[in-house]
Amino acid sequence: MQIDIITVFPEMFRGFLGESILSRAARAGKVFIRTVDLRDFSRDLRRTVDDRPYSGGPGMLMKPEVWYAAIESCLTPGARVVLTTPAGAPYTQRTAAAFATCEHLVFLCGHYEGLDERVRRLVTDEVSLGDFVLTGGEIPVAAMIDSTVRLLPGVLGGGAAATAHESFGDEGLLEAPQYTRPPVFRGMAVPEVLVNGDHAKVDGWRRRQAFDLTSRRRPDLLEKGGTFSNE
Ligand SMILES: C[S@@+](CC[C@H](N)C(=O)[O-])C[C@H]1O[C@@H](n2cnc3c(N)ncnc32)[C@H](O)[C@@H]1O
Repeated sequence: MQIDIITVFPEMFRGFLGESILSRAARAGKVFIRTVDLRDFSRDLRRTVDDRPYSGGPGMLMKPEVWYAAIESCLTPGARVVLTTPAGAPYTQRTAAAFATCEHLVFLCGHYEGLDERVRRLVTDEVSLGDFVLTGGEIPVAAMIDSTVRLLPGVLGGGAAATAHESFGDEGLLEAPQYTRPPVFRGMAVPEVLVNGDHAKVDGWRRRQAFDLTSRRRPDLLEKGGTFSNE
């Protein structure tokens, strides 16, 4: 998979891309991630990328011509061009799974009051990280890349099983509580079922816990199809 990130702050991605699973995935050739500096596509000496909005009002808007030049420099046939915007569709695990099937993703990080409306003509997906306003698109893009790349085959140890039982995974539930050693910590014991080694019972317990937790905290997920089964 190839990922291009168009941003006025490429440095913001340096640490993030150089660490942990993302850097391992890049070293293993599972993903090639590149930052593209939007200012390189400005035509003036001050490398301007913004201008005053026609409607008046506070703040600046990002100019269409620099975005067109930057996006067109990245495009390959079939590439998905993803605009980060509070007005986009909510980003979910399902979006991450869909992105993980793509050959080439181009992420656009907005700033200031956002982008000139005409840039949307080049955009295939508009995605929001949530119902709040951030200063720029870099944090949403970092979250989207992280959640997408970990779904690529071979990136996480354990294969598809590593993500199947996770929150928002195949079962559509939150993940059940988990424990590690010691068996008793400050008077709190690990549930007996988890230490007795009966895999079928552990599985049933885990499903029940996941279902109960989801019912209490995110009943909306059950309405979307999350189910409990003792199979
Ligand atoms: C200050 S915001 C612009 C907000 C815009 N004026 C509005 O009211 O919708 C600047 C940029 O941050 C990014 N951004 C901010 N909040 C976001 C969110 N919840 N999801 C995705 N991107 C966001 C977008 O790229 C946006 O263009």
